Amino acid sequence: MPPTDSTPEAPTPKDPEGEPSPKRVAADESASEKKDVSTEKNLSKKDDAPEGGPAAELPHGSAPGIRFEKVVKRFGHNVVLRELDFTVEPGERVTLIGPSGSGKTTILRLLMTLETLNEGVIWIGDETLWHMERGGKRVPANQKHLHEMRKQVGMVFQQFNLFPNMNVLRNLTEGPVRVLGVSKDEAVERAKGLLEMVGLADKIDAHPTQLSGGQQQRVAIARALAMQPRVLLLDEVTSALDPELVVGVQDLLRDIARQSDLTLLCVTHEMAFAKDISDRVLMFDQGQIVEAGHPDQIFGEPAEQRTRDFLQAVLAS
Ligand SMILES: Nc1ncnc2c1ncn2[C@@H]1O[C@H](COP(=O)(O)OP(=O)(O)OP(=O)(O)O)[C@@H](O)[C@H]1O
Ligand SMILES: [Mg+2]
Repeated sequence: MPPTDSTPEAPTPKDPEGEPSPKRVAADESASEKKDVSTEKNLSKKDDAPEGGPAAELPHGSAPGIRFEKVVKRFGHNVVLRELDFTVEPGERVTLIGPSGSGKTTILRLLMTLETLNEGVIWIGDETLWHMERGGKRVPANQKHLHEMRKQVGMVFQQFNLFPNMNVLRNLTEGPVRVLGVSKDEAVERAKGLLEMVGLADKIDAHPTQLSGGQQQRVAIARALAMQPRVLLLDEVTSALDPELVVGVQDLLRDIARQSDLTLLCVTHEMAFAKDISDRVLMFDQGQIVEAGHPDQIFGEPAEQRTRDFLQAVLAS
């Protein structure tokens, strides 16, 4: 039986991790973005991070894995996921590649509980996301279960999706205070650390419209991390950016991936980035995983014709 809970799409103070309608205003695209932030400078290494230093802002400790078991997702007659099976190991960094419209975003949105599941089971660690146990039976999850599970997962969207009516500081503190019950002082301290880490400490009072696309995306990354997720989902996070802004955001994410223990599931068309950031790449098409392997194998010696065709098309574009 499919779960029936509806999930909110718009951010509200009660649901600040919801998905706001995109509002991208690329004001002031120039000066501050071209001078790229050296994230190496801002992120101290995992091993030698000083107590309370920037890397202390990154989640550490055992992260849960992800498992899709025979997951089916339909939009009307359009069957997007067809008994999809795949696993992301705890702390593993996995990139999903595949053609436009194949269902990559849908996979991430299911994990964020922004779409409902039709069939199958999704696991986060040893708990089911869309189901719960009642009297020894697996039943559709209630809102409380979804709310608890959802705390483990953060997502960065293609269109940033910052709360347009809040300044940068409130974008970062609203979720921790309202959803996690963190004290305001602690949330502010943490926000400051994260803004320093993403190179935007001086933008703490700015509103999203006063930031460039790259800056907005950095704030969005910091906002996702402020919720202290154990699983981070990245959906084409640089594809709405002007080309010269892409590298800075990718560098930041690469450093975060290397210096945290997060489980990472990333969707990207940027093959060099995918190669760089991933332990494993999954080629996805027609609702199923076509091929999975180390980035060197998938990009260097793909076993499946479908993967070869896809990579050829991407490289030609
Ligand atoms: N809310 C929705 N209602 C109806 N159909 C939807 C909805 N969301 C997605 N779809 C359909 O599901 C399919 C998969 O969409 P999805 O956005 O997951 O693809 P994608 O792989 O992320 O594509 P892209 O690479 O272009 O972002 C598409 O056919 C799309 O039209
Ligand atoms: Mg997509």
